[in-house]
Amino acid sequence: MQNTAAVPTDLLDELRALYRRAPDLLDSETARLGLHPLSGGRNNRVFAWSSADGEVCLKLYRIDKRDRAACEFNALNHVAAHGVTNVPKPLWHDPDPDLPAVAMSMVAGEPVPDLAEPSTAIRAVVSVLGQLRALPLGPFTDLPRVDTATSFVDRITEVWPSQLDEYASEPHTADMRGLLDAWHRHNDAAVLTEPAPRIFSHGDSNLLNWLWAGPEISVVDWEFAGYSDTAWDAAEFIEHLSAHPIDDALWISLLPELGVDDEATRRRFAAAQRTVALRWLSVLWKRRHKRAEEFEYQRKRVTELMNSDFVSLR
Ligand SMILES: Nc1ncnc2c1ncn2[C@@H]1O[C@H](COP(=O)(O)OP(=O)(O)O)[C@@H](O)[C@H]1O
Ligand SMILES: [Mg+2]
Repeated sequence: MQNTAAVPTDLLDELRALYRRAPDLLDSETARLGLHPLSGGRNNRVFAWSSADGEVCLKLYRIDKRDRAACEFNALNHVAAHGVTNVPKPLWHDPDPDLPAVAMSMVAGEPVPDLAEPSTAIRAVVSVLGQLRALPLGPFTDLPRVDTATSFVDRITEVWPSQLDEYASEPHTADMRGLLDAWHRHNDAAVLTEPAPRIFSHGDSNLLNWLWAGPEISVVDWEFAGYSDTAWDAAEFIEHLSAHPIDDALWISLLPELGVDDEATRRRFAAAQRTVALRWLSVLWKRRHKRAEEFEYQRKRVTELMNSDFVSLR
């Protein structure tokens, strides 16, 4: 994909020199370069940069198997080329083996989880998700999104049981094993391996990535984009921890707009929902002492989902 603005090579040289001296210098020495950290950047370093042409968002990426920078830049170009306007404008991508960078326009808005009354914003989110689902896969035909059914099922079936074995005598363990057994009885792993049409997916369901400047909604953080399927994406979104404060009644009313609108998709959605909720329980179980309240919430959530169909929960 082509850069639409000049790459600031001097700035990037300086940032990479700091990084080579000590990665933490990117947190302490960047203000003098006109870079101000944006809250919420957890995996990467995300800055508002006061460039000569005005403020832009500059993102420096962590290195791992996925080429996060290319993925974000390609996704922003892909969705913009198909007329989706609720995204930052991609400006340039500068690959680098240690510290790849992407710049994009700044978008306005408040993160959806910070809103006192989020239901209007959530409806806007769901409408954008509908636009994204309808896009061709483009450069993502063979690249899965992050947080797939396979990765969640692997964690539940391969990683978690042996972790539980290490705490066999802890009171929580029997309960966790009971929920795992309930999940196995639903046969969700088998349902999720049945073929389903691929859709384009943003790939990161954290509601912090959605910024509301009513009536406009924007979505940032495209480094995990890839293909998915309708039922998995809807369930992974609804069961993301960041979505807990949203009423189930609202989610249930929005299911048809999320594409969960026929028997086959509803069945796959139910399997996906239990799987996602249980995967989060396995994550929170590891933090059961430090994040006791969230762990308890999730235990209750999973118990409800194992015993009853979502739509008849409330
Ligand atoms: N283009 C942008 N315009 C305005 N704010 C942004 C932009 N990109 C990111 N942000 C803010 O920075 C935060 C972190 O950026 P994000 O791309 O989500 O990084 P991470 O991959 O670390 O989660 C976002 O949650 C959002 O609040
Ligand atoms: Mg993010």
